Amino acid sequence: MQTEQFHYDNKIVKKFLYATIFWGLIGMSVGLLLAFMFLFPNITDGISWLSFGRLRPLHTNAVIFAFVGNAIFAGVYYSSQRLLKARMWKDWLSQLNFWGWQAIIAGAAITLPLGYTSTKEYAELEWPFDIAIALIWVAFGANLIGTILKRRQRHMYVAIWFYLGTFVTVAVLHIVNSMALPVSIFKSYSAYAGVQDALVQWWYGHNAVAFFLTTPFLGLMYYFVPKAANRPVYSYKLSIVHFWSLIFIYIWAGPHHLLYTALPEWAQNLGVAFSIMLLAPSWGGMINGLLTLRGAWDKVRTDPVLKFMVVAITCYGMATFEGPMLSLKNVNAIAHFSDWIVAHVHVGALGWNGFLTFGMIYWMVPRLFKTKLWSTKLANAHFWIGTLGIIMYALPMYVAGFVQASMWKQFNPDGRLTSTFLETLNAIVPMYWMRAIGGTMFILGAFILLYNIIMTIRQGSECTDELAEAAPLEKVTRKRTSKEGYHTWLERRPVKLTIFATIAILIGGMVQIIPSLIVDDYVPVISTVKPYTPLELEGRDIYIREGCVGCHSQMIRPFRSEVERYGEYSKSGEYVYDHPFLWGSKRTGPDLFRIGGKYSDNWHLNHFYDPQSTSSGSIMPSYKWLIQADLDKSMTEKKMEVMVSLGVPYTQEEIDGAQASMTAQGTQIEENLKSDPDFVKTYEADKKYAEENGEDFTEMRDREVVAIIAYLQRLGTDIKIKTGEETTTN
Ligand code: HEC
Repeated sequence: MQTEQFHYDNKIVKKFLYATIFWGLIGMSVGLLLAFMFLFPNITDGISWLSFGRLRPLHTNAVIFAFVGNAIFAGVYYSSQRLLKARMWKDWLSQLNFWGWQAIIAGAAITLPLGYTSTKEYAELEWPFDIAIALIWVAFGANLIGTILKRRQRHMYVAIWFYLGTFVTVAVLHIVNSMALPVSIFKSYSAYAGVQDALVQWWYGHNAVAFFLTTPFLGLMYYFVPKAANRPVYSYKLSIVHFWSLIFIYIWAGPHHLLYTALPEWAQNLGVAFSIMLLAPSWGGMINGLLTLRGAWDKVRTDPVLKFMVVAITCYGMATFEGPMLSLKNVNAIAHFSDWIVAHVHVGALGWNGFLTFGMIYWMVPRLFKTKLWSTKLANAHFWIGTLGIIMYALPMYVAGFVQASMWKQFNPDGRLTSTFLETLNAIVPMYWMRAIGGTMFILGAFILLYNIIMTIRQGSECTDELAEAAPLEKVTRKRTSKEGYHTWLERRPVKLTIFATIAILIGGMVQIIPSLIVDDYVPVISTVKPYTPLELEGRDIYIREGCVGCHSQMIRPFRSEVERYGEYSKSGEYVYDHPFLWGSKRTGPDLFRIGGKYSDNWHLNHFYDPQSTSSGSIMPSYKWLIQADLDKSMTEKKMEVMVSLGVPYTQEEIDGAQASMTAQGTQIEENLKSDPDFVKTYEADKKYAEENGEDFTEMRDREVVAIIAYLQRLGTDIKIKTGEETTTN
């Protein structure tokens, strides 16, 4: 058979590599800034777009989709071409994939700080971006599949199975979870409400971990570890078993994010069962990765690339052991909402994703530039400072999580809670210091990488199109031959393999989500629960814009410790008008589900102005701009109409009367605020000053803070529980 000559496209790989490093440094630096905000909550005081709630999604999106995302594309474009012995199918698709993805990231970096967010974790971008993401992702998938179809290597290597599974699943997850109705260009409401929104979100959220942070990286591991170690994969059989079981089981695990919440019990238990089972296929991957290195340990000792990879795979093993443990209901009862989870995800993110990416970069760049790594010494230095950084990050956060959770649950002998929330917070500030130091070390390492890579590139030579040679595939029977094993046959049938993988991932999602769509009493109705008033709805949108959900939960679990601290536990029927749900996943501050009526309006005003004045030692940032800003009421009717389309029973009369209703409710809150003589004094002074200087003056009732106070005062007040009754179930 005549061989053909062709060129691998290295240029696209380089572009993705540069983007990986660039966005990685930005995403991590934003994370570091956030870490310091736990210590100095007002370092960006008064600058709305640099406040914690708005930057948190920027950090998570930047490290997940920009850093890890670009690393995936770099690794996939490099390895697929070589594994399939073909240039990428269409150069223009590669370019579209690259520039489209960077444009979306740049858009995220602008719109998230401006407060345009859906608040759904790792899916915060508003609907126009969601559409763009879907299109670019499909361009990536088409390019990958096109390359597979014109390949010169008959059997697809395990890495390719993982890439295919990733493409299909991420597409399904993203589209289903992003369903929303637009109000305007940068504002939409989730199509799902309350419990159902939570279920869909965490089916998506957990599988973003699974199919964005795990399966593509397993594919990369299967390519780069054997390459770097110069040894074959430890077990082919194991790779088959663990691939199929991993993608089938993973998709079921989402509800473990919602244990003890208002999600139906059966769905919770299903999530737990599958999360425990997940240990086996996860460790299958880890074992296959680590044992590939058996016999290459001498090389591991000297080669920084392999060192990074060993730590990466070890961190993967630790995180995927911990995951199932965290899904056990009794462990979850302690760990959920605490800093334990922050430790857990950073072992995964810094260790598994970060270190595998670094290893990959150190391996690829010298090859792409036909040279040697500029300094092995520096790479080793990066390795050590990075590893110590991970430890310095994770260990204190485990301690913090444990201390926090224990204090949240502790009772005195007389049956009262031992600590206030602020005391539980103050106890862990030292751990937040250590975390910030650990994070600094990790980033320092990343800057060392940047320097080393720049120097390597400068000494290397440009090689954009790499010549390769292989014979084209001959026609063979599509049917399985008698000598051929079943899976061997499947490995040369890309379309079949993709369809089977799709079926494997659809089953779990359908079993969990469809009942919530079709079962009538999935969420038992509570007749006293009514839609938010127009002003409360506007207030809720400010809560969404400011990212309060990044620090506050709205989900009181049925534990005595929570009911004592926060009030009656949450019922699924109380969330039926919540598009989107705002349960949150981290309690840096207290739960707010029953905050309504707990404090006066004045307290809230003062708290927003200067949280430390009402709550000494608080790390909540001040929200001075809410007190100054005019409330935008131009969209209120439109918002209510969209809500009606989503099933919220506003009447036409209520919509027509929205402006009057907002003025009335706002005026009431303004009156309440005037009960404080200090408030009256400054308010009157401001007003007089504005009049004398001919400046505009907005009455308090028309400002944003009044709307958010209205919302907070409403929270959790729709049901009345008689006091003195036994209210806990646990
Ligand atoms: C960086 C994390 C953080 C962010 C962001 C944040 N908070 Fe807080 N919040 C806290 C902490 C910590 C406390 C507890 C100490 C205190 O009262 O200030 C708290 C307390 C509160 C309380 C009092 C709760 C109680 O039961 O005493 C309310 C109400 C509140 N926050 C509302 C908000 C709103 C509304 C937003 C968004 C505009 C917000 N918070 C953003 C951390 C945060």
